[in-house]
Amino acid sequence: MKINIAVIGTGNVGGVLARKWGQAGHTVILGVRNTAEFKGKELLNEKNITASTIEDAAKNAAVILIAAVPQATADIVNMMGNVSGKVIIDAMNSVRTKPEDFVNSFEALKALATEAEIVKSFNSVGFNVMADTNFHGTKADMYMAGSSTNAKAIAKQLALDAGFESCYDFGGDDKAALLEQFALSWINLAMMQGQGREMMFKLMKR
Ligand SMILES: NC(=O)c1ccc[n+]([C@@H]2O[C@H](COP(=O)([O-])OP(=O)(O)OC[C@H]3O[C@@H](n4cnc5c(N)ncnc54)[C@H](OP(=O)(O)O)[C@@H]3O)[C@@H](O)[C@H]2O)c1
Repeated sequence: MKINIAVIGTGNVGGVLARKWGQAGHTVILGVRNTAEFKGKELLNEKNITASTIEDAAKNAAVILIAAVPQATADIVNMMGNVSGKVIIDAMNSVRTKPEDFVNSFEALKALATEAEIVKSFNSVGFNVMADTNFHGTKADMYMAGSSTNAKAIAKQLALDAGFESCYDFGGDDKAALLEQFALSWINLAMMQGQGREMMFKLMKR
């Protein structure tokens, strides 16, 4: 199923996912503050990717990935305008900065974009893992949290389309903060404990 996806925040994470989803046949609209100059402008040379204002990108998309900085959440909600019935995927982690008045971007989105269906995903590994999910022939896993089953079904499909082996369900809205802590655990292992960025969390069963 082809999906119209707005990507707001076109840096490391947004850039990689925009490219992958475009290659997978989805229509990707980069939502940017300045259409003349923005990080990731070279993405316009890639398949199925265009750019417009944040408002127009959100208006023309069914699914909106937000991979900007958490403190911009309220501004982005204002710029998007009416997001009634749309799915918002929140990929942001409050590593150093938080949205004003909220503990994290998911809480801010739940409070400010009340008409949208919100899912937290694409936050738990570095953008380098999103760019190349292959680990010696085994594909990395993605994770998602939120109370909308529709939003989670879409996030899962988009994770598979981006090359992840699966997208495991962390639970409802109450588990979004835990999924963010999971991401901070990746950052801790990769950066602070010296494991390096070329690592991922694999769910294994027996
Ligand atoms: N880096 C990773 O490996 C990684 C992995 C998982 C999750 N994350 C999370 O994903 C988010 C993005 O990380 P990144 O590394 O991709 O960041 P980045 O490369 O620095 O890109 C940030 C993007 O946010 C946009 N932005 C900043 N302020 C904005 C505003 N007020 N309104 C609209 N857009 C704004 C920037 O647009 P302009 O070009 O207009 O400045 C830029 O496109 C962060 O919350 C991070 O915690 C990062």
